[in-house]
Amino acid sequence: MIEVKDITKSYGTKENKQQVLKGISLKIEDGEFAVILGASGSGKSTFLNVVSGLERADSGTVCYDDVDITKLSDNKLTAFRKETVGFIFQQYYLLPNMTVEKNVRMGAELASNKEYKEIINEVGLSDKLKKYPSELSGGEQQRVSVARALAKKPKVLFLDEPTGALDEDTGRQVLDYIAKLYKESDFTVVMITHNQNIADMADTVIRINSGRIVDISKNEVKKTAYEIGW
Ligand SMILES: Nc1ncnc2c1ncn2[C@@H]1O[C@H](COP(=O)(O)OP(=O)(O)O)[C@@H](O)[C@H]1O
Ligand SMILES: [Mg+2]
Repeated sequence: MIEVKDITKSYGTKENKQQVLKGISLKIEDGEFAVILGASGSGKSTFLNVVSGLERADSGTVCYDDVDITKLSDNKLTAFRKETVGFIFQQYYLLPNMTVEKNVRMGAELASNKEYKEIINEVGLSDKLKKYPSELSGGEQQRVSVARALAKKPKVLFLDEPTGALDEDTGRQVLDYIAKLYKESDFTVVMITHNQNIADMADTVIRINSGRIVDISKNEVKKTAYEIGW
């Protein structure tokens, strides 16, 4: 379980300080599919970065079971990220001079998982192994980044607007691959979006506004990537 308690974070200097996270607390169970919903600028990315250990909060705690990652040294925090969490961002951040296979293998090697070819197959890219990112469409590049993130078998997959740069058809396809892999495996999903419709795919919907949680709700029935509105 991830347990977040009273997280605060500000940016800027003393005279020009902006409090972006104003005391956020929540729990996410193992295997849960949580969506964080909120308008642009509401603090979603900052929150995700703090919960995943990419950034440090000013105060508050973030516990993965009994490990409080806010107390870890920089080296230990890096090791934690390597072993425990995977990331997918709106921009794909693939290495341009490496093939699909090598990009995914790099993710797998982080956790010495040798089944990376299987995961490339699972996202429907086994015929693109030797292609470079520039030879792929946006949707295909995002599927490579899905494969790379999951190749190391993270316990928690963090996604920050994963379909933000994709058109509807491609966006649905990428979400469908993520949902399929989620069903087959046992990782936890924390996905940021500003698209209300995408929240219909989640177990739990956490609404953020101006650095605070304003609502948490559960979906009785989850929709598929092809059933949601867009
Ligand atoms: N590294 C940073 N330095 C200064 N301000 C930042 C930084 N990151 C985010 N902010 C500010 O924090 C606020 C929340 O940003 P963000 O967490 O990216 O929101 P969201 O992801 O919901 O759009 C914004 O006003 C943004 O300008
Ligand atoms: Mg953001």
